[in-house]
Amino acid sequence: MLNCPTLPQSAKSYMKTDYHRTHTCGQLRKEDISKTVRLSGWVHKRRDFGQLIFIDLRDRYGITQLVFKDQTLAQGLRSEDVITVSGSVIAREMPNTKIDTGAIEIDVETLDILSKAEVTPFPLNENNLELQEATSLKYRYLDMRRGKIINNLMMRHQAMLIARNHLDSLGFIEVTTPILGKSTPEGARDYLVPSRIYPGAFYALPQSPQLFKQLLMVGGLDRYFQFATCFRDEDLRSDRQPEFMQIDIEMSFGEPSDIMQLSENLCKELFSKICGIEITTPFSIISHTQAMELYGTDRPDLRFEMPLARIDAIARGSEFAVFKNAIESDGCVKALCVKSTLSRKEIEKYTAFVASFGLKGLGWMKCEQTLTANIAKFFTPEQLHEIQALTKAESGDTVLFAAADTTTVNQALDHLRRQIAQDKDLIDTKKLSFTWVTEFPLFAWDSDEDRLVSEHHPFTAPYASDVGIMGTDPLKVRSNAYDLVLNGYEIAGGSQRIHDPKLQQQIFEHLKLSQEDIAQKFGFFVDALKYGTPPHLGIAFGFDRLMMILCQTDSIRDIIAFPKTIKASDLMMDAPAQVQENQLSDLHITCKNKPNPID
Ligand code: AMO
Repeated sequence: MLNCPTLPQSAKSYMKTDYHRTHTCGQLRKEDISKTVRLSGWVHKRRDFGQLIFIDLRDRYGITQLVFKDQTLAQGLRSEDVITVSGSVIAREMPNTKIDTGAIEIDVETLDILSKAEVTPFPLNENNLELQEATSLKYRYLDMRRGKIINNLMMRHQAMLIARNHLDSLGFIEVTTPILGKSTPEGARDYLVPSRIYPGAFYALPQSPQLFKQLLMVGGLDRYFQFATCFRDEDLRSDRQPEFMQIDIEMSFGEPSDIMQLSENLCKELFSKICGIEITTPFSIISHTQAMELYGTDRPDLRFEMPLARIDAIARGSEFAVFKNAIESDGCVKALCVKSTLSRKEIEKYTAFVASFGLKGLGWMKCEQTLTANIAKFFTPEQLHEIQALTKAESGDTVLFAAADTTTVNQALDHLRRQIAQDKDLIDTKKLSFTWVTEFPLFAWDSDEDRLVSEHHPFTAPYASDVGIMGTDPLKVRSNAYDLVLNGYEIAGGSQRIHDPKLQQQIFEHLKLSQEDIAQKFGFFVDALKYGTPPHLGIAFGFDRLMMILCQTDSIRDIIAFPKTIKASDLMMDAPAQVQENQLSDLHITCKNKPNPID
């Protein structure tokens, strides 16, 4: 029997029909034959056979076949009407082995139509129908009835329970931190909320609960976690949403290896319980420098090989002007060995592909015993030999070259490496390749602002051994930060935090933040550090990204109930939207322009 709460008698007396079900549409089996049951759900499919009418009744648990021997009873029933039927469970003459309830059907005695449905904008009973994303998002509640989204949401729910219980068993306490707060320096733009009470002042929605979780450590909580909704106004991609969820974690008196182990065990638990996959730990570790060198990115997809090889020294000594110029302008030349003979057409296609990442051309050589190419004449046989050794090229391979500034080369070859792997079917889609990326630079140079900025956030601790060079060579200072990468997605990131107020002050100075700036932006936090702060560290998992991989989908929108489009709009409710003049005036706001329509 279903475990549904019963309504008080007084409420029931107002209701025309008893809405309770005895079973779901996925529940009845051969053993239930001859029971009298009451089922409710949506009309999925209808088949008329003269006197007999068959209806597939659907709910989120499954489908049960109804048989109407009195065809007048079923007259007028249309797809997606919501109905309740009662009748007896009988054996099916022709069992359907494709569904769990395929051995039985319901001989319908009574029917109540609970809600009529208009013709839906797309059929809900065609399994293979590929919906346009805009249609799926506009009619999300209808797409949900098709099953896939609900399944993903159920997995998401399971994962939340598993993670919650796992962290609870380790003594982590779930704490909810505020949504209305103050802008924290996390790198993206903030979503702002105007204050009615303080004209001209704004709350910021949290990009993450970073400062709150650190303050919980100052407060002595020592082990915290939260399923935290975060908001970032940034350019969106298939793995980014403007509002997303983190499993946010912080602990005192530990070191990075504790957080790494905890994270690995959490992944182990999730993949085992959700997907039945036993993953191997510990995960590999690669330094940021190594990742950039070998893969051109700090989130390498390691399900396949194809590392990049730097050939700066050979390029410098060659006669090839394009390569030489790149080196002389402080750029680099890198090679990518493809384990297949690419046709000219393919090379042209890839040259156009890398152009969209700012790379002006793509050199190439083919390996037939030795390397041959249109650009071979610019290299001595020894240099060609050296290139072959560095790229490990074998007969039948093609080596592609990129020469430009280092950022462009890395970006273009990272994308090219992944594109070729996809085109050549080199990715084992069943594989899970976890890796930690560590030793990030603490600072990056922002040429627009003409100052150092934090690579992660300004509360990340530098390597103790690098503090000495902070004044002289700040770009060489490594941070004690760690990102967890899975199949090319950054699924988590965290760091050891600064707990010494003097060091925190020093970092702010390197970031060229004035005392006024510091006091105005996070004076409360700097103050808190002064009153006895434990060493602490943490991590945040991008829960939606993790779910994407657990649910084996490549769009973050598939695992969120009501996601936003790539342009951060909600097509279902048409948000963002204009508001009433009086609402604006309450908030002391005047709009210069009318907004564009949502798309
Ligand atoms: P970070 O900014 O690296 O660190 O974020 C942590 C993880 O959150 C996920 N993520 C996103 N997921 C979906 N959509 C987005 N727009 C988005 N942005 C980030 C990523 C990322 O690894 N406070 C720090 C954590 C810490 O230091 O403890 C933080 O937020 O998977």
